[in-house]
Amino acid sequence: MVKVITYGTFDLFHEGHYKLLQRARQLGDYLIVGVTTEEYDLARGKLNVADSLMTRIENVKKTGFADEIIVEESQGQKFRDIQKYNIDIFTVGSDWVGTFDYLKDYCKVVYLDRTKNISSTMLRIKETPIQRIGVIGTGRIANRFIPEAALVSGVNTQCVYNPHFESAEAFARKWGIDPCRDIEEFYNASDIVYIASPHETHYLYIKQSLEHNKHVLCEKPLCLSRRQAEELFEYAKRKKLVLFEGIKTAYCPGFTKLLGMACSGVIGSIRGVEACFTKLENVNHRELKDTEYGGSFTELGSYCLLPILKIFGRDYEKITFDMIKGNNGLDLYTKAHIRYAKGLATATCGLGVKSEGKLLVSGTEGYIVAEAPWWKTSYFEVHHENPDEVERISERFLGDGLRYEICDLLSMINGDTRRDFKLTRGDSEAMADIMELFLEERKRM
Ligand code: CTP
Repeated sequence: MVKVITYGTFDLFHEGHYKLLQRARQLGDYLIVGVTTEEYDLARGKLNVADSLMTRIENVKKTGFADEIIVEESQGQKFRDIQKYNIDIFTVGSDWVGTFDYLKDYCKVVYLDRTKNISSTMLRIKETPIQRIGVIGTGRIANRFIPEAALVSGVNTQCVYNPHFESAEAFARKWGIDPCRDIEEFYNASDIVYIASPHETHYLYIKQSLEHNKHVLCEKPLCLSRRQAEELFEYAKRKKLVLFEGIKTAYCPGFTKLLGMACSGVIGSIRGVEACFTKLENVNHRELKDTEYGGSFTELGSYCLLPILKIFGRDYEKITFDMIKGNNGLDLYTKAHIRYAKGLATATCGLGVKSEGKLLVSGTEGYIVAEAPWWKTSYFEVHHENPDEVERISERFLGDGLRYEICDLLSMINGDTRRDFKLTRGDSEAMADIMELFLEERKRM
């Protein structure tokens, strides 16, 4: 019996997939089809997969060509499967020519001609119209955003607005997009507005974008008061628009995995979360010059509050802030202590003090630690009482990581509301609340 194996995502199942499976089956007597998991696709940079794993498996099954269907979860699995299942022929489409030649030592490798003019990517674009992104703000984060958005199929960055038109023009020239002098012209040319302007302008831009029926992706902190955040989320809901806070950590695969493990009992019951993020900032930058809204906590607090709120929730008993201020009254080093009924948390942020950036989650049976830059989670360790018993977990984090949040935003706009579990409306409102308490406290201290 000749055993054949092939792999694929098989998203939005199409004729190309059908023909590939048909020919793969004809190569032998028994066909095994490996279907990729969502996590594996995300890790290898295949973003925007529309169908769930179950749907994709169902579709492969319906063809009747597969004698057996398995799930492909990680790189290196093909090599193991070929030996485990005693495979004679490995096959994939001709778009992969050469990539799998390393398997030739173990079985025959056949690249089948790809069916022309069809792919899942094409169907995704056809099924859901391209969303045009308009960017407000031209600072460092906006510059990081554009190349990341270019990697997500289904969106196109179209235009940029900055009240200082010369800045918009220079930015537009750099990225080959349109500068807008007039804000109405900007809204007309956008379906999604990405807000990367200074913190205190977020509220008005979000409101204005929603009034113009645009979906919004806003950089953290979304708002600096709970009342404003609640009002905006309520308004977005009424207008059936997506309002999305851009804290990239929340959407990156490694962080989701870390949370999943922490909350599934591997370190017992969680009693502590300590998150630290410091970055020595240039004193001439907005972060250390804007005496009203700059400072360490408004700048970096969202990252540190994220694991705390995701693990312990929003019902804390008490929050206190401690800080060291610079001459202009801005906090250069800040600690927020948060007490919960069953645990203690600390968020440490610094723009003028450097510390070891670390995320530490402590439990009754062990701890999880992720070193800096844990906010781009790609590696963490699970420790127990026995120091020899360490589990080391890695996850791919690609580029600047903004692609993951853009992807989830797009899925939500296209109707997949399940994606909002990574950063809920309640999480964003709680963060706005804490920012507000912090700003009051900073004025008082
Ligand atoms: N395939 C094919 N002809 C096509 C499209 C895909 O023969 N027109 C083959 C691929 O070469 C692969 C298998 O089908 O062996 C599964 O491919 P997959 O990556 O799931 O499909 P694509 O349509 O290429 O997906 P995407 O556009 O997301 O890359």
